Amino acid sequence: MCGIVGYVGTKRIVPVVLEGLRRLEYRGYDSAGIVYLQDGELVKHRAQGKLANLEALIDDAIIAPSHIGLGHTRWATHGPPTTENAHPHSDCKNELAVVHNGIIENYHSLRLELQAKGHCFTSETDTEVLAHLIEEYLEDDLKAAVSQALARVEGSYALGVLWKGMPDTLIAARNQSPLVLGIHETDGLFLASDIPALLPYTKEVIFLDDRELAVLNKDSFQVYSQDSGEVLVKEQTTIDWNAAMAEKGGYRHFMLKEIFEQPQAIVNTVSGRINPETGVVNLPELNLTASDIARIDKIFLVACGTSWHAALVAKYWIERWAGIPVEVDIASEFRYRRLLINERTLTISISQSGETADTLAGIRLAKELGSRIVTICNVVGSTMTREAHGTIYTHCGPEIGVASTKAFTSQLAALFLFTLYLAEQRETIDSEKQLELSQALIDIARVVDEELPRLQKEINVLIETFYDCLDFLFVGRGLNFPIALEGALKLKEISYIHAEGYASGELKHGPIALIDKEMPVLALTPQDAVYQKSISNVEEIKARQGRLILIGSEGDSHLRTITDDVIELPRVHEEMNPILYTIPAQLLAYAIATRRGCDVDQPRNLAKSVTVE
Ligand code: AGP
Repeated sequence: MCGIVGYVGTKRIVPVVLEGLRRLEYRGYDSAGIVYLQDGELVKHRAQGKLANLEALIDDAIIAPSHIGLGHTRWATHGPPTTENAHPHSDCKNELAVVHNGIIENYHSLRLELQAKGHCFTSETDTEVLAHLIEEYLEDDLKAAVSQALARVEGSYALGVLWKGMPDTLIAARNQSPLVLGIHETDGLFLASDIPALLPYTKEVIFLDDRELAVLNKDSFQVYSQDSGEVLVKEQTTIDWNAAMAEKGGYRHFMLKEIFEQPQAIVNTVSGRINPETGVVNLPELNLTASDIARIDKIFLVACGTSWHAALVAKYWIERWAGIPVEVDIASEFRYRRLLINERTLTISISQSGETADTLAGIRLAKELGSRIVTICNVVGSTMTREAHGTIYTHCGPEIGVASTKAFTSQLAALFLFTLYLAEQRETIDSEKQLELSQALIDIARVVDEELPRLQKEINVLIETFYDCLDFLFVGRGLNFPIALEGALKLKEISYIHAEGYASGELKHGPIALIDKEMPVLALTPQDAVYQKSISNVEEIKARQGRLILIGSEGDSHLRTITDDVIELPRVHEEMNPILYTIPAQLLAYAIATRRGCDVDQPRNLAKSVTVE
């Protein structure tokens, strides 16, 4: 959603803030801004568009050294992405500044109240209300004024505040929007909405929780409860990522790097969790005992976007091998329907960021109804991991590209591990099957690694006849139906081509009316249990002069009797096809988007982590 960076310490503020914003730009890139204290006055720069536009305004060489400030990259919620709406926002006297991520739901009534008291607003944002509200309560203690202002606020916020009257202090506050403190024993204190901004300076972090407020000085900090005012003792976490992991490493885009990191990401997610001799799975951080598992009579999988596609695949796996009924819900729908949940329900959230607002709200609701909560997540210490009863981390490192790739295949690996663990605990598979399925999961990373270079070459040639199409259809059956949905989402979110994913068998119930000689139809047709049905669907498309691209099994000569555009994949265990068949779909989307000159890592209108509802 938005990127927040703050710093107070011994280093020069401008390079720290700009470097931090550069590492958070994937969170939002409509506009950017910086504020710092210089000779006792607030200095503010803001620019519409990408961070580079802000950097062009600032010549650090001529700036007198300043060591305290805030920065922000915006994903617009209220008011268009203009310079006037860019953060930081200030009070009437330009003596304090705030940067904010979230939504102030009662901003309109607060704005009217403040205007009636004579406050002049210069933007259309909800955030500016915070600056004037703090001003209203400000006397000589910024923390007290921020606390009183937040007591009037309804909604979500991650907040940084700077005031010229306390030139050595930053105030941070959090409610339902992520905010992390970075601690360095000599360089000072850092503030960020996500970990990558802190990595060049420190790996020692403290995650603020909802309704907590922090006071940061260059060599000390204190965290308080917003509601009780009591001083809180917070756990310090050491992050096991390094700064290089959040860099492109020579690739043209983060997305391409992350596509090629998938074999290692899957290995990192699986390793240490399977006994290769027996296939037995070990998930200690799950906090689910055998008796807990025996009591589960229903599982809900709750997620958004790509993570929801992973949930759809997991439904097939869990029902097939563990024999537990599974319901899959888009999180924004889950939380508004009557949920038949009780103590025998297990609710699993799937989330790369661990901060997606709708998914977070979903598991909070499920927990209230008595469900145990597990989360499949990629970010250590993120909100979902701190609110769930158990976590399965996908150890794929920071995923910077807005379009999720390595996190998705790592989620699939984690969900398959979980399936095997459930099946073993419930004794629904024998030891032979356990070993067979575990070996399939262990093997798939090697296969993906071997196939990636060839697939990239073949797909770069293939797209030359498709990259300028206006519409695209992806179809798949069974385990590959969710992969058809994922392929369509990847293509639409980075190339802006209208793309839809469909169950192959569903085409004849309406979508087949779309088939013509123009629109490419990419069909996933591995020689699996539903192969014959999939081929029948493909023949129905061919019979209507459909423009087919087939992704199928190596050596399946029938495919080339249907179309010339065939991508062959090695035969792997059928249960692993969802991981393998995702790879060409990701490469196709990337190749088409780059061929169309799209901004692959920062697609228009999107942000990496949707922390607003
Ligand atoms: C996927 O490419 C998108 N960026 C988006 O759909 C994403 O999967 C969704 O917003 C969920 O994010 P999460 O996994 O961090 O919860």
